[in-house]
Amino acid sequence: MKFATEAIHAGQLPDPATGATIVPIYQTSTFTQEEIGRHKGYEYSRTGNPTRAALETCLASLEEAAHGLTFATGSAATAAVLSVLRPGDHVVAMDDLYGGTYRYFERVCRPNQVSFTYVDGRKVSEIERALQSGTKLVWIESPTNPLLNLADIAAIAAVTRPRGILLAVDNTFATPFFQKPLALGADVVVHSTTKYIGGHSDVLGGAVLTGNRELYEKVKFYQNAAGAVSGPFDSWLTLRGVKTLAVRMRQHEQNALDLAQFLEPNRCVSRVRYPGLSGHPQHELARRQMTGFGGMVTFDLRGGRDQANIFFKALKVFSLAESLGGVESLACYPATMTHASIPTEDRRRRGITEGTIRLSVGIEDIDDLRADLDQALRASQT
Ligand SMILES: Cc1ncc(COP(=O)(O)O)c(C=O)c1O
Repeated sequence: MKFATEAIHAGQLPDPATGATIVPIYQTSTFTQEEIGRHKGYEYSRTGNPTRAALETCLASLEEAAHGLTFATGSAATAAVLSVLRPGDHVVAMDDLYGGTYRYFERVCRPNQVSFTYVDGRKVSEIERALQSGTKLVWIESPTNPLLNLADIAAIAAVTRPRGILLAVDNTFATPFFQKPLALGADVVVHSTTKYIGGHSDVLGGAVLTGNRELYEKVKFYQNAAGAVSGPFDSWLTLRGVKTLAVRMRQHEQNALDLAQFLEPNRCVSRVRYPGLSGHPQHELARRQMTGFGGMVTFDLRGGRDQANIFFKALKVFSLAESLGGVESLACYPATMTHASIPTEDRRRRGITEGTIRLSVGIEDIDDLRADLDQALRASQT
């Protein structure tokens, strides 16, 4: 079946116990057994819960993965993938990553003797050059947070696959509606379902999707052992959100393209980053590996932190807030918010300046969004 149908039906058959059309919230920690070792497939909700199972099946289906696992947050999903590494293992990661992922790599994994090399993931040759005999994992985001750079997933997979190195893709920004990393050759996809998949900024969650049985078994073992699972109500909210992913993503993209085109010639703005603009340096790659360009737009406001602050304070429809992917529009200041955990010099070198502003373009009426940006930009330069 097609994507929009799968999003509404995959893993979501009528409830076997009652016929409920919508998957119930199985808000229970435990399940009564008929006799020793005899039960209906569930024993304890950390190990497995029917609401979570429905979400795991649905997300696996959307990513064209054989297996899905969901977690309390996207960060917990990232940690679950990294849990398969052992002291002495090496990871090659993009140097333009969500700040919390970088923090987890540097402050949690590195002290546990896993080493990291960060490279410009736009260049496959740099990834290839950074591989070592102990490299077990290549970790990429595409498009990246917040600079909306792209990595050529198929070309990177062509380097990692023959060497038996796992390729993990954080597909949070694109979502499976616009990009299918496993079909492009990646081994595992990670999501912060807190973002577009949940879609309403009312729930945290994460997911790991893979076709690799051995990896799945390891991550599933870790999921149960470490226990950062998505709870029944959170799983249900995410499942409710994902049903409308297709319609939301189309509208996010339409609004984002409109605003990117509005910002590009604006005299208050020095640079606009959006993969859907023909001037984006990787626009051709975006057209090749994505079926749409997403709802995130990043731009550099002329001036620095003071101008940015005036801009944020003037906004009426957009909220100054962390996170992204909800139906409402958000504006964020990566230097002190999402990317504060990256050292200042590193951040500047990567292109995140004091004028960099990241927009999560919602699905409100585009006229209101454009007018809001227009008045806030004018205010920032007076
Ligand atoms: C691209 C990306 N990956 C992972 C995460 C972490 O997700 P969570 O906040 O659900 O732990 C985020 C959060 O902002 C993100 O933007």
